[in-house]
Amino acid sequence: MTATARIVDVAGAAPYRIHIGAGLLDDGALLADTLRGRHALLVSDSHVAPLYADRVEAALRAARPGLHLARHVVPAGEAEKTLATFGGVIDALAALGATRDACVFALGGGVVGDMAGFAAACWMRGIDCVQLPTTLLAMVDSSVGGKTAVDLPQGKNLVGAFHPPRAVVADTAALRTLPARELRAGLAEVIKYGAIVDAPFLDWLAERAGALLAGDAAALAEAIARSCEHKAAITARDPLERGERALLNFGHTFGHAIEAEQGYGDGLNHGEAVAVGMLLAARLSATLGLASWSDAEALRTLLLRFDLPVDVPARLTPEALLARMRLDKKAQASGLRFILWNGPGAAQIVADVAEGAALAALRTET
Ligand code: NAD
Ligand code: GLY
Repeated sequence: MTATARIVDVAGAAPYRIHIGAGLLDDGALLADTLRGRHALLVSDSHVAPLYADRVEAALRAARPGLHLARHVVPAGEAEKTLATFGGVIDALAALGATRDACVFALGGGVVGDMAGFAAACWMRGIDCVQLPTTLLAMVDSSVGGKTAVDLPQGKNLVGAFHPPRAVVADTAALRTLPARELRAGLAEVIKYGAIVDAPFLDWLAERAGALLAGDAAALAEAIARSCEHKAAITARDPLERGERALLNFGHTFGHAIEAEQGYGDGLNHGEAVAVGMLLAARLSATLGLASWSDAEALRTLLLRFDLPVDVPARLTPEALLARMRLDKKAQASGLRFILWNGPGAAQIVADVAEGAALAALRTET
């Protein structure tokens, strides 16, 4: 392991460790340490595999010469987080002859992590999955906590399972090849942690915006570790989202509606949609008297500082987004449910939000 690696432990019924550091994808001993059996499937996408898959395979083979290791690469992008690509991973596990002690290594962003993680959750009713996140968003959010899923045309993440990883290995050096837009998308989820549970983190982020956007390694490692500590703590207390874990969905009810309505892979990416969604949720909170309008405006300023979008794409109508939100899995039988804001560092779950208030937030001009 590199000298600079940080570790965040996630407690719970199936505890695991998050390793954060530069060069960890080459650490064969660390990667092989997670293996229980003789079979491993490396799942990646068409952008990430050419950059990193050979190195991961070489590290694993050097550390475990007898390993039966196969590679399965899917096309990149949210539009590929489907039952069809999930089925492709299942077919690859079958072709490998993967046994109950096999391991899936999910090398990529949240799309690969969610889809390959779901395949690991289903193969023989559940085998190990080691998350090897290569986007900032995946390092700070999707690789941690065990939510796995694929999308349906009707909505995001509608088919999935809770399946905690066996380990998370986040090689921060992989962020050097990440497109700037994807880095910013990850920073939206980092801002989310500050917004919902850590007000001083918002100030820290505002001070280091330039360094983070420039890819400063130390600033990014600190942001990743702090985000993972928050996610680890929340998901350890509420692994199945019976309560407080839902706070992690701040901005997601609006964001998922935007993603579904625009079509997966078109327009805003997930982190960008969450950025717009967080501002909409803040405005809805102000409308309902839960947060101040000045807090909502300060959040908008911070998002703009990170070059994140703050407006709903013009072609998406408030009425169409409301219809999507009615379908969202977070809409309970009783009505619309949102994670609303109480100002920096505090959020709450609110059920039965009036549709008129949500429409008003969508219609607020910036
Ligand atoms: P992504 O996986 O589509 O990755 C973004 C793009 O970056 C892709 O084109 C990918 O190929 C490319 N890429 C990845 N790593 C790279 C690297 N190091 N260098 C160059 N290119 C690289 O998107 P994402 O933002 O990582 O993840 C979004 C997904 O995560 C969504 O489907 C969302 O629903 C899901 N998500 C899940 C959870 C969870 O708890 N499971 C939490 C948040 C988000
Ligand atoms: N990204 C929300 C969650 O993991 O619960």
